Amino acid sequence: MQLTKAEQTILDGAQGRAAQKSMEILTALGKIYTAERLIPVTSVQISGVSYANLGEAGLAFLTEMAEGDGQAQVLTTLNPAGMDIENWENLEISAKFAENQLRVLDAFALMNIITTATCTPYLIGNTPHFGEHIAWAESSAVCYANSVLGARTNREGGPSALAASLTGLTPEYGYHLDAERLPTVTVQVEAALGENADFGAFGKTLGEQLEGMGGRRVPYIRGIESASVENLKSFCASLATYGGVALFHMLGITPEAGLVLPPQDEILVNSEEIQRARESMIDADSDEIDFVSLGCPHLSIKEIVRIAELLEGKQVTKEFWITTARPTKEIADRMGYTAVIEAAGAKFAADTCCVVAPIKGRFTALATDSAKACYYAYAKNKFKTALLPFDEVVSEALK
Ligand code: F3S
Repeated sequence: MQLTKAEQTILDGAQGRAAQKSMEILTALGKIYTAERLIPVTSVQISGVSYANLGEAGLAFLTEMAEGDGQAQVLTTLNPAGMDIENWENLEISAKFAENQLRVLDAFALMNIITTATCTPYLIGNTPHFGEHIAWAESSAVCYANSVLGARTNREGGPSALAASLTGLTPEYGYHLDAERLPTVTVQVEAALGENADFGAFGKTLGEQLEGMGGRRVPYIRGIESASVENLKSFCASLATYGGVALFHMLGITPEAGLVLPPQDEILVNSEEIQRARESMIDADSDEIDFVSLGCPHLSIKEIVRIAELLEGKQVTKEFWITTARPTKEIADRMGYTAVIEAAGAKFAADTCCVVAPIKGRFTALATDSAKACYYAYAKNKFKTALLPFDEVVSEALK
């Protein structure tokens, strides 16, 4: 990989130890993926923020970068942390965990990274436009950025995203290149989808089929008549989880779909397959459900308004987490939705989610509208699951 003179001086240590280490990470990655050069990025999203995932070793790396004069060179936000930064006691997070989580956030803040912890940065102002080169971690957000916004990013890991932030650079390979963004298979959908759970079930069945096909996976999807922002974030999370997909084109909905040709290879996805995928994520009986969570990926303000409408004047009977970005919650606070939701006994869990919070062993079964949350509830926390439409998730909390 060719470095410019300026890049070589960073690698030689002219801008401090953190920038040097970042350049070492980026050049090593570039060599592995045979990138010819580094390119500038305008936005970064960093994963690996929960202390539950990072541990002391991860925190030591962050501290080393912060103490080595690491400074974000471009707009950088964070993935969810392991707790609500203000309201952690109410979620029964231990004081010891909270102390360690705050050390993580302090290290990021020292590097001038915005410590808004959310997996939907695109809803709170870290919103790249069509064609912009970015370096994002968080598989659901990567899929959304590439497919819905039309920005260009690979699936970064925590260290490579941090390295991109501290240098403003990323190796040019993968989804930064036109050729790698071309679709590999056409997907014809013959089913009506409306709820987030429908899109999640579709993402699961399609993801599993694509994974079985191997190779590069960029579907060109036809037959979806409409999809809201909320549907698309749910679909992106599911397709990335079950199929490792970082980019799709959806005819009539996503920016590049009109600019590329559908491949001749075609697979059909019908309503029976989607129904089977949905049923595979329901193994909890209603009387086993003791945990309800909405907000995977983090809720939009529109979804919070709907929860407030459904909970007004009622009382929940189960632990119910509303997971969202702090700025979105602040809108809810200002408009009175938070007061309505909390009066009903539901809890805001801003900055975190039911997957990255340390809750293993606390619950038996989760009700959610998220196919991704179902995957991790079982794989990480050994909870049973019930994938339900949005309004029915709220009803489950009231039973
Ligand atoms: Fe976001 Fe947590 Fe789901 S990070 S996509 S809410 S698993």
